[in-house]
Amino acid sequence: MSPKKEFGDFQTPLSLARRVVTLVRQDERRVGTIVEPTCGVGAFLQATAEVFGKSPTYCGFDVNAEYVQAASAALARIGPLQVTVQQRDFYTINWQEFLHEQAEPLLIIGNPPWITNAGMGVLGGSNLPEKTNFQGHSGFAAKTGKANFDISEWMLIRILEALQGTRAAIAMLCKTATARKVLRHAWVNGLDTGPSSLHLIDAATEFGVSVDACLLYTHTGTGGSESTATVYRTISFDQPLQTFGLFAGELVSDIDAYRALRDLDGLEYRKWRSGVKHDAAEVMELTRDNGSFVNGFGEQCELEDDYTFPLLKSSNLGARQIVLALPRRPRAGGFAGRLGGVGGFSRGLFTWHRFSFSHLTI
Ligand SMILES: C[S@@+](CC[C@H](N)C(=O)[O-])C[C@H]1O[C@@H](n2cnc3c(N)ncnc32)[C@H](O)[C@@H]1O
Repeated sequence: MSPKKEFGDFQTPLSLARRVVTLVRQDERRVGTIVEPTCGVGAFLQATAEVFGKSPTYCGFDVNAEYVQAASAALARIGPLQVTVQQRDFYTINWQEFLHEQAEPLLIIGNPPWITNAGMGVLGGSNLPEKTNFQGHSGFAAKTGKANFDISEWMLIRILEALQGTRAAIAMLCKTATARKVLRHAWVNGLDTGPSSLHLIDAATEFGVSVDACLLYTHTGTGGSESTATVYRTISFDQPLQTFGLFAGELVSDIDAYRALRDLDGLEYRKWRSGVKHDAAEVMELTRDNGSFVNGFGEQCELEDDYTFPLLKSSNLGARQIVLALPRRPRAGGFAGRLGGVGGFSRGLFTWHRFSFSHLTI
Protein backbone atom coordinates (compact mmCIF):
# COMPACT_ATOMS: atom_id res chain seq x y z
CA MET A 1 0.00 0.00 0.00
CA SER A 2 1.21 3.48 -0.79
CA PRO A 3 2.13 5.23 2.48
CA LYS A 4 1.31 8.52 0.74
CA LYS A 5 -2.32 7.39 0.42
CA GLU A 6 -2.61 6.00 3.93
CA PHE A 7 -1.38 9.29 5.35
CA GLY A 8 -3.58 11.40 3.06
CA ASP A 9 -0.35 13.05 2.02
CA PHE A 10 -0.75 16.08 -0.26
CA GLN A 11 1.91 18.64 0.62
CA THR A 12 0.71 22.21 0.22
CA PRO A 13 2.63 24.27 -2.36
CA LEU A 14 4.46 27.13 -0.62
CA SER A 15 2.73 29.66 -2.91
CA LEU A 16 -0.71 28.51 -1.70
CA ALA A 17 0.39 28.51 1.97
CA ARG A 18 1.62 32.10 1.49
CA ARG A 19 -1.73 33.20 0.04
CA VAL A 20 -3.54 31.67 3.01
CA VAL A 21 -1.21 33.38 5.48
CA THR A 22 -1.65 36.75 3.72
CA LEU A 23 -5.42 36.46 4.21
CA VAL A 24 -5.16 35.37 7.82
CA ARG A 25 -2.72 38.16 8.63
CA GLN A 26 -5.37 40.77 7.71
CA ASP A 27 -7.40 39.74 10.79
CA GLU A 28 -4.83 38.22 13.11
CA ARG A 29 -2.39 41.04 13.77
CA ARG A 30 -0.92 39.58 16.97
CA VAL A 31 -0.47 35.85 17.50
CA GLY A 32 1.04 34.12 20.55
CA THR A 33 1.42 30.60 19.19
CA ILE A 34 1.24 29.08 15.73
CA VAL A 35 0.43 25.36 15.54
CA GLU A 36 0.56 23.14 12.45
CA PRO A 37 -0.90 19.82 13.70
CA THR A 38 0.23 17.73 10.69
CA CYS A 39 2.98 19.97 9.31
CA GLY A 40 4.48 17.81 6.55
CA VAL A 41 7.58 19.46 5.08
CA GLY A 42 6.48 22.72 6.65
CA ALA A 43 4.95 24.99 3.97
CA PHE A 44 2.62 26.62 6.50
CA LEU A 45 5.28 26.91 9.19
CA GLN A 46 7.57 28.62 6.71
CA ALA A 47 4.85 30.92 5.31
CA THR A 48 3.71 32.00 8.79
CA ALA A 49 7.28 32.57 9.99
CA GLU A 50 7.95 34.79 6.96
CA VAL A 51 5.01 36.99 7.93
CA PHE A 52 4.70 36.79 11.73
CA GLY A 53 8.46 36.76 12.40
CA LYS A 54 10.07 36.20 15.77
CA SER A 55 7.34 36.97 18.30
CA PRO A 56 5.11 33.84 18.17
CA THR A 57 6.16 30.33 19.17
CA TYR A 58 5.94 27.83 16.28
CA CYS A 59 4.82 24.22 16.92
CA GLY A 60 4.66 21.61 14.20
CA PHE A 61 3.94 17.87 14.36
CA ASP A 62 3.93 15.13 11.78
CA VAL A 63 3.98 11.36 11.93
CA ASN A 64 6.65 11.25 9.22
CA ALA A 65 10.20 11.70 10.61
CA GLU A 66 11.68 12.90 7.29
CA TYR A 67 9.02 15.57 6.98
CA VAL A 68 9.75 16.74 10.52
CA GLN A 69 13.42 17.19 9.61
CA ALA A 70 12.51 19.09 6.45
CA ALA A 71 10.11 21.37 8.35
CA SER A 72 12.73 22.10 11.04
CA ALA A 73 15.26 22.93 8.34
CA ALA A 74 12.81 25.26 6.58
CA LEU A 75 12.26 27.23 9.80
CA ALA A 76 15.98 27.28 10.62
CA ARG A 77 16.68 28.95 7.26
CA ILE A 78 14.39 31.85 8.22
CA GLY A 79 16.43 32.68 11.33
CA PRO A 80 16.33 32.26 15.11
CA LEU A 81 12.75 31.51 16.13
CA GLN A 82 11.03 29.80 19.09
CA VAL A 83 10.30 26.46 17.49
CA THR A 84 9.10 22.98 18.49
CA VAL A 85 8.83 20.59 15.56
CA GLN A 86 8.39 16.95 16.57
CA GLN A 87 7.53 13.57 15.15
CA ARG A 88 4.17 12.91 16.80
CA ASP A 89 1.01 11.03 15.94
CA PHE A 90 -2.03 13.33 15.95
CA TYR A 91 -4.13 10.64 17.65
CA THR A 92 -1.85 10.34 20.67
CA ILE A 93 -1.61 14.05 21.48
CA ASN A 94 -3.78 15.39 24.30
CA TRP A 95 -4.86 18.42 22.31
CA GLN A 96 -6.86 20.06 25.04
CA GLU A 97 -3.95 19.96 27.47
CA PHE A 98 -1.40 21.02 24.88
CA LEU A 99 -3.39 23.90 23.41
CA HIS A 100 -4.39 25.28 26.81
CA GLU A 101 -0.71 25.52 27.77
CA GLN A 102 0.15 27.72 24.77
CA ALA A 103 0.26 31.53 24.68
CA GLU A 104 -2.91 33.08 23.28
CA PRO A 105 -4.12 34.03 20.79
CA LEU A 106 -3.39 30.85 18.88
CA LEU A 107 -3.33 30.31 15.16
CA ILE A 108 -3.96 26.70 14.12
CA ILE A 109 -3.06 26.48 10.48
CA GLY A 110 -2.42 23.71 7.98
CA ASN A 111 -3.83 20.97 5.85
CA PRO A 112 -4.82 17.71 7.57
CA PRO A 113 -4.70 14.31 5.76
CA TRP A 114 -6.97 13.83 2.76
CA ILE A 115 -8.47 10.39 3.23
CA THR A 116 -11.71 8.92 4.52
CA ASN A 117 -12.00 6.11 7.05
CA ALA A 118 -13.60 3.98 4.32
CA GLY A 119 -10.71 4.75 1.95
CA MET A 120 -8.33 3.69 4.70
CA GLY A 121 -10.31 0.45 5.09
CA VAL A 122 -9.90 -0.32 1.40
CA LEU A 123 -6.16 0.30 1.68
CA GLY A 124 -5.91 -1.83 4.81
CA GLY A 125 -4.26 1.10 6.60
CA SER A 126 -4.37 1.76 10.33
CA ASN A 127 -3.89 5.53 10.47
CA LEU A 128 -7.30 5.98 12.05
CA PRO A 129 -8.78 7.42 15.22
CA GLU A 130 -10.44 5.15 17.76
CA LYS A 131 -14.05 4.41 16.79
CA THR A 132 -16.37 6.96 18.34
CA ASN A 133 -19.81 8.18 17.42
CA PHE A 134 -18.60 11.76 16.98
CA GLN A 135 -21.16 12.44 14.23
CA GLY A 136 -23.97 11.76 16.68
CA HIS A 137 -25.57 8.96 14.64
CA SER A 138 -28.29 6.89 16.21
CA GLY A 139 -29.14 3.23 16.05
CA PHE A 140 -27.19 0.74 14.00
CA ALA A 141 -24.88 3.28 12.38
CA ALA A 142 -23.77 4.47 15.82
CA LYS A 143 -23.20 0.92 17.11
CA THR A 144 -21.12 -0.18 14.15
CA GLY A 145 -19.31 3.12 13.69
CA LYS A 146 -20.15 2.48 10.05
CA ALA A 147 -20.65 6.06 8.94
CA ASN A 148 -18.01 7.28 6.52
CA PHE A 149 -16.05 10.40 7.44
CA ASP A 150 -12.96 12.25 6.41
CA ILE A 151 -10.01 11.91 8.76
CA SER A 152 -9.62 15.68 8.48
CA GLU A 153 -13.21 16.12 9.70
CA TRP A 154 -12.39 14.09 12.78
CA MET A 155 -9.16 16.01 13.37
CA LEU A 156 -10.72 19.44 12.88
CA ILE A 157 -13.54 18.65 15.28
CA ARG A 158 -11.01 17.45 17.87
CA ILE A 159 -9.10 20.72 17.52
CA LEU A 160 -12.27 22.86 17.70
CA GLU A 161 -13.43 21.04 20.81
CA ALA A 162 -10.01 21.30 22.43
CA LEU A 163 -9.97 25.05 21.77
CA GLN A 164 -13.20 25.82 23.60
CA GLY A 165 -12.65 28.86 25.79
CA THR A 166 -9.34 29.68 24.08
CA ARG A 167 -8.81 32.66 21.78
CA ALA A 168 -7.79 31.11 18.50
CA ALA A 169 -8.08 31.35 14.74
CA ILE A 170 -8.25 28.14 12.71
CA ALA A 171 -7.22 28.24 9.05
CA MET A 172 -7.21 24.80 7.46
CA LEU A 173 -7.38 23.49 3.92
CA CYS A 174 -9.87 20.67 3.49
CA LYS A 175 -12.68 19.40 1.30
CA THR A 176 -15.55 21.87 1.07
CA ALA A 177 -17.94 19.18 2.32
CA THR A 178 -15.67 18.60 5.31
CA ALA A 179 -15.62 22.32 6.14
CA ARG A 180 -19.42 22.41 6.11
CA LYS A 181 -19.66 19.29 8.28
CA VAL A 182 -17.19 20.66 10.81
CA LEU A 183 -19.05 23.97 11.12
CA ARG A 184 -22.39 22.17 11.29
CA HIS A 185 -21.01 20.02 14.11
CA ALA A 186 -19.86 23.13 15.98
CA TRP A 187 -23.14 24.97 15.49
CA VAL A 188 -25.44 22.05 16.27
CA ASN A 189 -23.47 21.22 19.41
CA GLY A 190 -23.36 24.84 20.56
CA LEU A 191 -19.55 25.05 20.43
CA ASP A 192 -18.05 28.47 20.87
CA THR A 193 -17.45 29.56 17.27
CA GLY A 194 -16.76 33.08 16.07
CA PRO A 195 -16.69 34.47 12.53
CA SER A 196 -16.28 31.75 9.90
CA SER A 197 -15.70 31.72 6.15
CA LEU A 198 -14.85 29.28 3.36
CA HIS A 199 -12.49 30.29 0.55
CA LEU A 200 -12.56 28.03 -2.48
CA ILE A 201 -9.31 26.69 -3.92
CA ASP A 202 -8.60 24.94 -7.19
CA ALA A 203 -7.53 21.52 -5.88
CA ALA A 204 -6.77 20.22 -9.38
CA THR A 205 -4.20 22.95 -9.94
CA GLU A 206 -2.81 23.04 -6.41
CA PHE A 207 -2.82 19.33 -5.55
CA GLY A 208 -3.58 17.49 -8.79
CA VAL A 209 -6.80 16.03 -7.36
CA SER A 210 -10.33 16.51 -8.54
CA VAL A 211 -12.18 17.47 -5.39
CA ASP A 212 -14.05 20.54 -4.15
CA ALA A 213 -11.71 22.03 -1.60
CA CYS A 214 -11.38 25.23 0.36
CA LEU A 215 -9.73 27.09 3.17
CA LEU A 216 -11.86 26.82 6.30
CA TYR A 217 -11.28 29.93 8.40
CA THR A 218 -12.98 30.12 11.78
CA HIS A 219 -12.45 31.33 15.33
CA THR A 220 -12.98 30.30 18.94
CA GLY A 221 -12.95 32.27 22.18
CA THR A 222 -14.53 35.38 20.66
CA GLY A 223 -17.40 35.36 23.13
CA GLY A 224 -19.94 35.03 20.32
CA SER A 225 -21.76 32.04 18.97
CA GLU A 226 -22.20 32.64 15.27
CA SER A 227 -23.86 30.04 13.09
CA THR A 228 -23.34 31.33 9.56
CA ALA A 229 -20.36 31.28 7.21
CA THR A 230 -19.80 33.08 3.93
CA VAL A 231 -18.27 31.25 0.98
CA TYR A 232 -15.79 33.27 -1.11
CA ARG A 233 -14.67 32.46 -4.63
CA THR A 234 -10.96 32.87 -3.81
CA ILE A 235 -8.59 33.20 -0.88
CA SER A 236 -9.70 36.76 -0.21
CA PHE A 237 -12.81 38.54 1.05
CA ASP A 238 -13.49 40.09 -2.37
CA GLN A 239 -16.01 37.83 -4.10
CA PRO A 240 -18.66 36.45 -1.75
CA LEU A 241 -20.75 33.69 -3.31
CA GLN A 242 -23.29 32.80 -0.64
CA THR A 243 -23.75 32.49 3.09
CA PHE A 244 -24.75 29.16 4.58
CA GLY A 245 -25.77 28.51 8.12
CA LEU A 246 -27.91 26.79 10.65
CA PHE A 247 -31.59 27.60 10.52
CA ALA A 248 -34.04 25.82 12.84
CA GLY A 249 -31.47 23.10 13.39
CA GLU A 250 -30.91 22.43 9.67
CA LEU A 251 -27.96 23.45 7.52
CA VAL A 252 -29.24 25.87 4.87
CA SER A 253 -26.89 26.32 1.92
CA ASP A 254 -27.92 29.88 1.06
CA ILE A 255 -29.33 31.78 4.01
CA ASP A 256 -30.33 34.88 2.00
CA ALA A 257 -32.23 32.86 -0.60
CA TYR A 258 -33.84 30.83 2.17
CA ARG A 259 -35.00 33.94 4.04
CA ALA A 260 -36.46 35.38 0.83
CA LEU A 261 -38.37 32.20 0.00
CA ARG A 262 -38.94 30.71 3.40
CA ASP A 263 -42.75 30.91 3.15
CA LEU A 264 -42.54 28.17 0.55
CA ASP A 265 -41.19 25.94 3.27
CA GLY A 266 -44.54 25.90 5.03
CA LEU A 267 -45.49 22.37 4.04
CA GLU A 268 -45.22 19.64 6.60
CA TYR A 269 -42.47 17.14 6.06
CA ARG A 270 -43.26 13.45 5.78
CA LYS A 271 -40.52 11.17 7.02
CA TRP A 272 -39.25 9.04 4.18
CA ARG A 273 -38.56 5.45 5.15
CA SER A 274 -36.84 3.27 2.70
CA GLY A 275 -39.35 0.50 2.11
CA VAL A 276 -40.44 -2.94 3.14
CA LYS A 277 -38.38 -6.03 2.56
CA HIS A 278 -40.06 -8.00 -0.20
CA ASP A 279 -40.72 -11.19 1.76
CA ALA A 280 -42.22 -9.22 4.66
CA ALA A 281 -44.71 -7.48 2.42
CA GLU A 282 -47.65 -9.78 3.25
CA VAL A 283 -47.33 -8.82 6.92
CA MET A 284 -46.16 -5.23 6.67
CA GLU A 285 -48.25 -3.87 3.81
CA LEU A 286 -51.81 -3.14 4.79
CA THR A 287 -54.84 -1.77 3.09
CA ARG A 288 -57.74 0.07 4.65
CA ASP A 289 -60.99 -1.84 4.71
CA ASN A 290 -64.02 -0.24 6.33
CA GLY A 291 -61.93 1.62 8.89
CA SER A 292 -59.61 -1.24 9.85
CA PHE A 293 -56.43 -2.64 8.32
CA VAL A 294 -56.12 -5.87 6.34
CA ASN A 295 -52.77 -7.55 5.66
CA GLY A 296 -51.66 -9.59 2.68
CA PHE A 297 -53.14 -12.79 4.17
CA GLY A 298 -56.55 -11.14 4.34
CA GLU A 299 -56.37 -10.90 8.14
CA GLN A 300 -57.87 -7.91 9.99
CA CYS A 301 -55.22 -6.09 12.09
CA GLU A 302 -55.49 -3.52 14.83
CA LEU A 303 -52.72 -0.96 14.73
CA GLU A 304 -51.91 2.28 16.48
CA ASP A 305 -51.67 5.30 14.17
CA ASP A 306 -48.16 5.95 15.50
CA TYR A 307 -46.85 2.85 13.74
CA THR A 308 -48.51 3.16 10.35
CA PHE A 309 -46.89 5.07 7.54
CA PRO A 310 -47.83 5.89 3.96
CA LEU A 311 -46.32 3.48 1.46
CA LEU A 312 -45.48 4.55 -2.04
CA LYS A 313 -43.82 1.95 -4.25
CA SER A 314 -41.76 2.66 -7.30
CA SER A 315 -44.21 0.44 -9.17
CA ASN A 316 -46.98 2.94 -8.30
CA LEU A 317 -44.94 5.68 -9.86
CA GLY A 318 -44.05 3.53 -12.87
CA ALA A 319 -47.74 2.82 -13.47
CA ARG A 320 -48.42 6.58 -13.05
CA GLN A 321 -50.89 5.71 -10.31
CA ILE A 322 -49.60 8.55 -8.15
CA VAL A 323 -48.11 11.68 -9.53
CA LEU A 324 -48.09 13.89 -6.50
CA ALA A 325 -49.06 13.36 -2.91
CA LEU A 326 -49.48 16.42 -0.71
CA PRO A 327 -49.87 16.54 3.03
CA ARG A 328 -53.54 16.30 3.87
CA ARG A 329 -53.59 19.35 6.08
CA PRO A 330 -51.19 22.04 4.95
CA ARG A 331 -49.91 24.04 7.90
CA ALA A 332 -51.86 27.27 8.41
CA GLY A 333 -50.04 30.08 6.66
CA GLY A 334 -48.10 27.68 4.46
CA PHE A 335 -47.83 27.97 0.72
CA ALA A 336 -50.68 25.54 0.01
CA GLY A 337 -52.82 27.16 2.69
CA ARG A 338 -52.46 30.55 1.03
CA LEU A 339 -53.54 29.13 -2.28
CA GLY A 340 -56.74 27.88 -0.77
CA GLY A 341 -55.80 24.44 0.55
CA VAL A 342 -55.00 21.28 -1.32
CA GLY A 343 -57.80 21.70 -3.86
CA GLY A 344 -56.75 25.18 -4.89
CA PHE A 345 -53.10 24.25 -4.87
CA SER A 346 -53.60 21.20 -7.05
CA ARG A 347 -55.95 22.83 -9.48
CA GLY A 348 -53.75 25.85 -9.85
CA LEU A 349 -50.41 24.19 -10.26
CA PHE A 350 -50.55 20.49 -10.97
CA THR A 351 -52.55 17.98 -12.92
CA TRP A 352 -53.58 15.14 -10.65
CA HIS A 353 -53.60 11.72 -12.19
CA ARG A 354 -55.47 8.76 -10.80
CA PHE A 355 -54.92 8.47 -7.05
CA SER A 356 -54.60 5.13 -5.42
CA PHE A 357 -54.95 6.05 -1.77
CA SER A 358 -56.63 2.71 -1.10
CA HIS A 359 -53.11 1.34 -1.26
CA LEU A 360 -51.76 3.78 1.28
CA THR A 361 -52.04 3.30 4.99
CA ILE A 362 -52.42 6.86 6.18
C1 LIG B 1 -2.37 16.71 3.33
S1 LIG B 1 -0.75 16.47 3.98
C2 LIG B 1 -0.39 18.15 4.41
C3 LIG B 1 0.94 18.40 4.99
C4 LIG B 1 1.13 19.82 5.48
N1 LIG B 1 0.14 20.11 6.51
C5 LIG B 1 1.00 20.79 4.35
O1 LIG B 1 0.09 21.62 4.40
O2 LIG B 1 1.78 20.73 3.42
C6 LIG B 1 -1.12 15.62 5.48
C7 LIG B 1 0.03 15.38 6.39
O3 LIG B 1 -0.48 14.71 7.52
C8 LIG B 1 0.51 13.84 8.01
N2 LIG B 1 -0.18 12.84 8.83
C9 LIG B 1 -0.99 11.83 8.41
N3 LIG B 1 -1.44 11.13 9.45
C10 LIG B 1 -0.92 11.70 10.58
C11 LIG B 1 -1.02 11.42 11.96
N4 LIG B 1 -1.75 10.42 12.42
N5 LIG B 1 -0.37 12.23 12.82
C12 LIG B 1 0.39 13.25 12.38
N6 LIG B 1 0.55 13.55 11.07
C13 LIG B 1 -0.11 12.80 10.18
C14 LIG B 1 1.14 13.29 6.73
O4 LIG B 1 2.44 12.77 6.99
C15 LIG B 1 1.16 14.54 5.86
O5 LIG B 1 2.37 15.23 5.99
